[in-house]
Amino acid sequence: MGISVLIVGSGAREHALTWKALQSPLTTAVFCAPGNAATAAIAINTGLDATDVDGIARFVAERDIGLTVIGPEAAVAAGLADRLLEARRLVFGPTRAAGRIESSKAFAKSLMERTGVPTPGHRVFDNPAAAKDYVRGEQRAFVVKADGLAKGKGTLVPRDTEETLESIDTLMLQRTVGGAADRIVLEEKIEGREVSLMALVDGEHVLALQPACDYKRALDGDRGPNTGGMGGYSPVAAFDADDVQRAVETVLAPIVGALRDAGTPYRGCLYAGLMIGATSVQVLEFNARFGDPEAQVLLPRLETDLIALLEAAASGNLASASASWTNRASVGVVLASRGYPGTYSTGVAIDGLGTVERDVFVFHAGSAASPSGYVTAGGRVLTVVALADSLADARDRAYRNVNRIRFDGMSFRRDLAQREVETPALR
Ligand code: GLY
Repeated sequence: MGISVLIVGSGAREHALTWKALQSPLTTAVFCAPGNAATAAIAINTGLDATDVDGIARFVAERDIGLTVIGPEAAVAAGLADRLLEARRLVFGPTRAAGRIESSKAFAKSLMERTGVPTPGHRVFDNPAAAKDYVRGEQRAFVVKADGLAKGKGTLVPRDTEETLESIDTLMLQRTVGGAADRIVLEEKIEGREVSLMALVDGEHVLALQPACDYKRALDGDRGPNTGGMGGYSPVAAFDADDVQRAVETVLAPIVGALRDAGTPYRGCLYAGLMIGATSVQVLEFNARFGDPEAQVLLPRLETDLIALLEAAASGNLASASASWTNRASVGVVLASRGYPGTYSTGVAIDGLGTVERDVFVFHAGSAASPSGYVTAGGRVLTVVALADSLADARDRAYRNVNRIRFDGMSFRRDLAQREVETPALR
């Protein structure tokens, strides 16, 4: 028997989840909370905010929703899964307690320390003066992380001691991310290539997805401010199936086991941000959700029924599940409004959406429908994802199609997947 599905969130990640959910023979209807202009064209937008826990719980009961899929971290932290589980509803996404792996960087670090998961050394500070005294004593740079959720703006990567001191001021005194930085983590800087490894987890078992890479800086060459993500690609030659298996055994399984033993089992997508060095793999962060834009580049490569997998994870039945993937590569390019991640204009007409080639998917985030077509309505507007037989071809196809889309002020990185095409192996 089929089920109706509710996708919670409003970004390009949720557009991709909605698109994939609609391909499942198990799905009878797909609703979005709230969804966006593009999900309105393929599914049913509810108008419910992603953190409106009462409203969503009511909707799930009234419409007898068979599976709720939580996209954004804010809905995890708002306790949406807790509420739906109390009502005995199937939900893909962790409880607030399990989600602390993302909502508190200090909690994640201490969990990694306890379980022996490799991660750069760190110190936690509640007091800016004490943090600065420590940095002056060490006379070197640290990564400065807000403890709480900060919409991608809570991690600063200064180059030297002076900039580290400024970063502490920015987060703790100027309060650029508000109360999220009342506590900070100072983390050792390490070198390498970042890889995102996500897995479906059912409280006990771990089913790794294919690795992907994302690009957080706004400008080519990894320059400029951090963003919510400017694009990505999959697969990752520098992180093969053996590397994935090792990461499952040394990173994901110990964390899932520790959360289970603590009485806060993790169900949902567990995202490990890994730093791959010449001789080691270390965990930089965990997220309690699908990555954005990782979800957009991975979902077009997934051949298995997404809803069957998410249902299995939500109901504790992942033990015998497996996922199959096309060998084709994907590259995703985020098209942003000029000025993002700072201030930007909206309401600008988007042209060319109807001209993209086959095997190219345009996932919307910050767009709105107008009588004359889509207009911009946010900082990250679209993710253009292309599939092809090689990463080089996927890259060419992605950029060829980016060039078919136009809006005033459209900005994007031109170097996505370039390093992977030029120097695929790291070791
Ligand atoms: N791509 C990074 C994130 O989703 O947080």
